[in-house]
Amino acid sequence: MRNFDEHNITDAALDRFRDTPDARLKQIMTSLVQHLHDFVRDIELTFEEWELAINFLTRTGQISTNKRQEFILLSDTLGVSMLIDAINHRMPAGATETTVLGPFYVQEAPELPNGSDLSQGLEGEPLYVEGSVEAADGTRLANAIIDVWHSDKDGYYDVQRPDLDEPTLRARFRANADGRFRFWSIQPASYPIPSDGPVGQMLAATRRHPYRPAHVHFRISAEGYETLITHVFVAGDRYLDSDAVFGVKDALISDFKREAPGVGPDGRAIPTSWRRLTYRFGLKPLTVDPAATTDH
Ligand code: BEZ
Ligand code: FE
Repeated sequence: MRNFDEHNITDAALDRFRDTPDARLKQIMTSLVQHLHDFVRDIELTFEEWELAINFLTRTGQISTNKRQEFILLSDTLGVSMLIDAINHRMPAGATETTVLGPFYVQEAPELPNGSDLSQGLEGEPLYVEGSVEAADGTRLANAIIDVWHSDKDGYYDVQRPDLDEPTLRARFRANADGRFRFWSIQPASYPIPSDGPVGQMLAATRRHPYRPAHVHFRISAEGYETLITHVFVAGDRYLDSDAVFGVKDALISDFKREAPGVGPDGRAIPTSWRRLTYRFGLKPLTVDPAATTDH
């Protein structure tokens, strides 16, 4: 076949995938070509715009390293990451909702005893976190592994601060026999996602701000349950309704209640005001009846 024009080229391109042996790959490629062609036709893309897009994607790849993944950031800021998360994490009642992992998770965070302080002396309002890990039916999950990480009082993660070479404001805890864990840290702040690359240029060109509301990240795993990747957001943050990566859900917003100076829950003397976050995390069993999930 030849003489392709804007009316027949889509069918011709789709036909080239007819012999794809993997059925899922065939479905993905044909849907991709169909949507791409419809998109190009819809907006009547010019050559200059096509070149700009190729240049944008090239730079997105070029700025990516094993420490910086600009394509994931692009996916995050286009709402694609949270769409995939929503489709793949339809949760049963009692299970905590999920949100994006983000680029600041580090696998080698040290395991610390419950009650430890993650702040390593960094300045900030003290924060006491106490959590419980449960199955959706309320069974407490002893020995669950809890990774936590969050920003400092100015919105920076340890990996963004050249002055810090030890893991700071991040650690791993193990739930006790009662499924509980607790630690001290400092109150996190809202912060901009990395915006010095192509994604930042896209945000600026479309008059979008790069900020995320203040939050603490949690990654919680227990045998027989899906690993939970989520955050708890600080109630009242100004960016809760305009998170640059669409990660906020009502059920993940919590009061980080301000407490008066005095004695902390573990008997520690606290001369300043401090914050307290109490949160219950529910894990989804690995096998779950799809009829019991939401959003299907
Ligand atoms: C974060 O919360 O750490 C994050 C998530 C997505 C993109 C950038 C940062
Ligand atoms: Fe974060």
